[in-house]
Amino acid sequence: MEQKIYKIGFIGMGTVGQGVWKHLQNNQDHMQSRFGAKYELAKACVRDVNKKRDIVITAEQMTEDPYDVVNDPSIDIVCELMGGTGKALELTLAALKQGKAVVSANKAVISKYGAEIFATAEKFGGKYFFEASVAGGIPIIKILREGLVANSFSHIYGILNGTCNYILTRMERENAPYEAIVEDARKLGYVEADESLDLDGWDAAHKTSILAYLAHGVWASPEKDMLVSGIRGIRLEDMLWAKENNSRIKLVGSARKYGDSLSVAVYPAILPITDVVANVNEVYNAVALNGDVVGRTIHIGRGAGQDATASAVIADIADALKTLTSGASNALSVAKDEKLHFAALDEISGEFYLRLEIKDQAGALASMASVFASEGISIELLQQKKHDVEGRAWLLLTTHSTNEAAIKRACENLEASDLTFDKPFVLRIFR
Ligand code: NAP
Ligand code: HSE
Repeated sequence: MEQKIYKIGFIGMGTVGQGVWKHLQNNQDHMQSRFGAKYELAKACVRDVNKKRDIVITAEQMTEDPYDVVNDPSIDIVCELMGGTGKALELTLAALKQGKAVVSANKAVISKYGAEIFATAEKFGGKYFFEASVAGGIPIIKILREGLVANSFSHIYGILNGTCNYILTRMERENAPYEAIVEDARKLGYVEADESLDLDGWDAAHKTSILAYLAHGVWASPEKDMLVSGIRGIRLEDMLWAKENNSRIKLVGSARKYGDSLSVAVYPAILPITDVVANVNEVYNAVALNGDVVGRTIHIGRGAGQDATASAVIADIADALKTLTSGASNALSVAKDEKLHFAALDEISGEFYLRLEIKDQAGALASMASVFASEGISIELLQQKKHDVEGRAWLLLTTHSTNEAAIKRACENLEASDLTFDKPFVLRIFR
């Protein structure tokens, strides 16, 4: 009997789509023998068919109507590589309802609509694949779902946004201010068109919520259930403080259990230089998993870019072909602990670094210390630094272990007082 040729359709032929197309086209014989199945690159939908592409593709293979891909009965696998949430969700559900396999790199749509997408996939045969949505080329989804299936995870954390890691790496290395390096990152095409996704931590939050779901079976909404902050407020004073204290500042996504409560968060954090994650630089990502059976594992690789992301998408296409040839389902099985709830701020404990811009006058330090004392926060280290503006001073301090609620109240009280000129800037300290 002649071997079936599976047809692959694409919605989106931008950075990632072209990478996937290029590798599947250039290495077809090698890929087919590794996949154990034959495929054809059938169709690609884009916004503008007249735009120049860096791949070999015919006019007949291109369309501007995504339903030419989704509703084509001959197409077995739909790669959703367009991004966004509204249209991407609509097309994903339409393809899944027809029993097609869908491969996606779209962390935004999964973080927001994962529950609906996975339920639809399961109802119609369970063929949804999303390896490229988190940490680019690192196969972290497979690691969590398969390789480390024996484990419960007390803490998962890591660097999940390549753009922010690039900016922080260069700020630290070159002692250069945030704005100058962001401008370079823009020129290099690293920063997303919607800059807030990278710089305010939302992209890392989408990825962290996906990891938290896989590990704990609960969907954390970045807006409602997570603490999310980005890298915009970081100054060279903070970088220098970290360096002097054998540490480094990284934008960290974290899902940490405190008993039955789960804290899912993204924020810049101070990591000791002895932590492997603190030494992952440039656009690289790293994910550290603390499993109860395996112990600690750390996974490092390129977190963004055409080829790294294409590698993950192609791995999903290989898995999709396996489900299509065997008839097996790829339905997600995640374990949900019924007692687990999202941590309230007073349940999240840790040590903190704060930078305050205060009045340089008699009694200011004592007044500031009393704000912390009234919240039961004990100060560990305190350093005053010269400010460029007369009458102002920088105060850099760290706390002994306290909780997020106490820090929040102390910051609000300081901001409302006449002691400070700006919102206190806070970093979490990882030990
Ligand atoms: P991109 O370069 O902006 O490409 C998007 C593609 O989708 C383009 O080909 C665009 O068409 C097409 N498109 C957008 N809206 C469309 C619509 N309404 N109808 C038809 N086509 C439409 O994006 P990308 O960087 O490849 O990212 C794709 C996905 O992968 C996103 O979900 C992103 O978050 C994710 N991802 C990206 C990376 C990365 O490093 N770039 C890494 C991991 C995950 P035109 O070309 O005609 O404009
Ligand atoms: N903007 C993302 C990053 C792309 O910089 O990590 C990869 O998901």
